[in-house]
Amino acid sequence: MIQLKAVSKSYSQKNRVLDQVNLDIKKGEFVYLLGGTGAGKTTLFKLIATEELPSTGELSVFGYSARNSSEATLQAIRRSIGYIPQKVSLISDFTVFENVALSLSYGGSRLLKQEARQKIYELLDRLQLLHRKDALARELSGGETQRVAVARALARQPELLIADEPTGAQDFQHTWTVMDLLLRANVHGMTVIVATHDRDIVRRVRKRCLLLQNGKLTSEESALWSR
Ligand SMILES: Nc1ncnc2c1ncn2[C@@H]1O[C@H](COP(=O)(O)OP(=O)(O)OP(=O)(O)O)[C@@H](O)[C@H]1O
Ligand SMILES: [Mg+2]
Repeated sequence: MIQLKAVSKSYSQKNRVLDQVNLDIKKGEFVYLLGGTGAGKTTLFKLIATEELPSTGELSVFGYSARNSSEATLQAIRRSIGYIPQKVSLISDFTVFENVALSLSYGGSRLLKQEARQKIYELLDRLQLLHRKDALARELSGGETQRVAVARALARQPELLIADEPTGAQDFQHTWTVMDLLLRANVHGMTVIVATHDRDIVRRVRKRCLLLQNGKLTSEESALWSR
């Protein structure tokens, strides 16, 4: 589903953020992306989401080359990806419900079919946000804002979910509210990649781990879990 061959990314001549990265993620996998701050996790996600191009190397998503595909193909790829960004931005004068509904691109929440509305309510409920559905985005706490971004990314039931520190603003209880939802989506066939600093998550829910260090991507072995 995602393939990187010798992908490097630099923002300046001195600084090579990703260095000859090779990666193969299959449909239906659940993968953690680990690495210290500044290691390049968000950069790698932006490449996979086709928001940025590699400096060198080949990247393909859903079998399409990021470099050689038409704009229409890239747009179709992006529509099939749910992205929970590290820096969440919602539309501040829209409600929680409207922010999630917008991602369904039905041309405004008033036109949403009852079934779609129901789906959003269900998601908000699972994320313990249903009581906030009519609150304006600018009135939300950091944790609530992040959970709206989780709902927004999942609402369209994307084939691939990219979650950049999706629990970074959550307390212990809500961390597991979010994780449960991501794991449930994965059980239903969604491919999920999660960047996290939270070793507790990685220890409790054991999945394939990728580690970014000094621009290089390696697979982490189980030694990590005993730390
Ligand atoms: N648009 C950009 N222009 C210049 N440098 C950038 C840009 N984006 C990222 N960088 C640099 O690339 C490196 C990797 O950044 P990135 O955001 O991918 O790290 P990260 O692993 O996501 O870190 P964190 O855990 O703090 O989110 C950093 O040194 C950062 O300063
Ligand atoms: Mg980051």
